Amino acid sequence: MTACIVGWSHGKFGKLDGETSESLIVKAASDAIAHAGIEPKDVDVIYVGNMNGGFVRQEFHSSLPLQAHPDLRFKPSTRVENACATGSAAIHMGLNTLAAGKARFVLVVGVEKMTELNSAQAGDVLIKASYVAEEATIEAGFAGIFGKITSAYFQRYGDKSDALAKIAVKAHKNGARNPFAHFQKEFAYDFCRTPSDKNPFVAGPLKRTDCSPVTDGAAAVVLTDVGTALGMKQAIAFRAAEHVNDFLPMSKRDIIKFEGPQRAWQQALKSAHLDLLDLSFVESHDCFTSAELIEYEAMGLTAPGEGERAIHEGWVERDGKLPVNVSGGLKAKGHPVGATGVSMHVMSAMQLSGTAPEGMQLPKAKLGGVFNMGGAAVANYVSILEPLR
Ligand code: COA
Repeated sequence: MTACIVGWSHGKFGKLDGETSESLIVKAASDAIAHAGIEPKDVDVIYVGNMNGGFVRQEFHSSLPLQAHPDLRFKPSTRVENACATGSAAIHMGLNTLAAGKARFVLVVGVEKMTELNSAQAGDVLIKASYVAEEATIEAGFAGIFGKITSAYFQRYGDKSDALAKIAVKAHKNGARNPFAHFQKEFAYDFCRTPSDKNPFVAGPLKRTDCSPVTDGAAAVVLTDVGTALGMKQAIAFRAAEHVNDFLPMSKRDIIKFEGPQRAWQQALKSAHLDLLDLSFVESHDCFTSAELIEYEAMGLTAPGEGERAIHEGWVERDGKLPVNVSGGLKAKGHPVGATGVSMHVMSAMQLSGTAPEGMQLPKAKLGGVFNMGGAAVANYVSILEPLR
C-alpha cells in the first residue's frame, strides 16, 4: 500500500441546468477538502480530470479549482485526459506524484458538463475517442462503436439480448437506491428487452436502455501517503492500481476479447495477492450493457463467451457472490466522462468506510475493485481498495 483516499465528495449526477463545469469543480473541490478535514493551504498538487473535446467552450480547466479558496492560488494544477478513463488517469497522476515524494496532499477533481449539447452532438464529441482514421464514420457516436462490438460478440457467441436487458434492469434497480444517480427509477425487464418508441434501437443490437446517458457531474478525492493517512479520520488504501493501454485501432485487435482490461485485472489481482472472488464488490465500466457483459469475462468471472452466466445466475446482483455496480454504474448513475473514474473511486470509498447512502450500502464491504475504461478497451485502469484500518 502506498497511498490512500482520505477525503471525497460526490455531487448529484444528471442534467444539471444552471451549473457550469466551473461551478461543479468548485463545489467538488471545496467539499472534498472539507471532508478530508484539511485546509485548502494543505493541498500541494491538483489534478483536474476533464475530457471536454467540445462539450463546453471552456477547454482550459486546470486553474478552476483555485476558485474554491484563495489559499489554492499558486498551487500547481494540471488537466488530465484519457477519454472515458480520464477520472482514473487523474487519480493515477496523483498516486505517481505521491510516490515521487512531490506532495503530501493531492486534490483530484473529475468533471464533465455534457448536456449543453444534444445527444447527437455529444456523440460527435465522443466519437473522437475512437481511432478517427478508421472508425469516425461509424454512425451513432460511441454507441456505434459498441454497437459494432456487440454485433461481433453476438455473431461469435449467439444473441445475448436477454442478458443485456437483465444487466440494464440490475443497473436501474441499484441506481434507484443511489441518491447521486442520474436515473433513480427501476426499469422493467420487458421494457429493456423489447424495442419500442420509448426504447428504440440506437446502434446495432443496442437499444436506448443499453446505453449510459449523457450526464453532467463532478466528484473529487483527496489523496495522501499511508503515514499521513494513519492520523486522519477516514482512509481507504490502494492495495493495487494498474494501468494498461492497448492499440487504439479496433482493426489491430480481437475487439470482443477485451485483452487490455483482462491484463489490467490480472496485474492488479497479482500485485494485491488476491483472487477476484476475494473482492466484496466491483464498480465496472458499463458505458453500454454489452461492455459490462464482456467485462465479466475480462475480470475472470467467467470464461470467454459465457459472461451471461454471471447475470443469469445472479452472481453480480447486490446479494450475489460478486456484486457489480451497486451504485447503478454508468448506466443508471450516469457517465459524465471526466468525472466517472473519480466517481467510481468515491462510490467504493463510501462502501468501504460504511458511509454509502442507506439502501446502497452493502452489509459486508471489505475489498472493492474499480475498472474504468477509456475508448473501446483502450485505456484500462483497475484499482483495488480497502480500508486502511
Ligand atoms: N437510458 C435510459 N433512458 C434514457 C437514456 C439512457 N441512456 N438516455 C435518455 N433516456 C431517456 C430520457 O430520460 C428521456 O425520458 P423521458 O421521455 O421519460 O423524459 C428519453 O429517454 C428521451 O431522452 P433523449 O435525451 O431525447 O434521448 P436520446 O435518444 O437523444 O439519447 C442515447 C439516448 C442513448 C442516444 C444517449 O443517451 C447517448 O448517446 N448515450 C451514449 C453516450 C455515450 O456514448 N457515452 C460514452 C460511452 S463510452
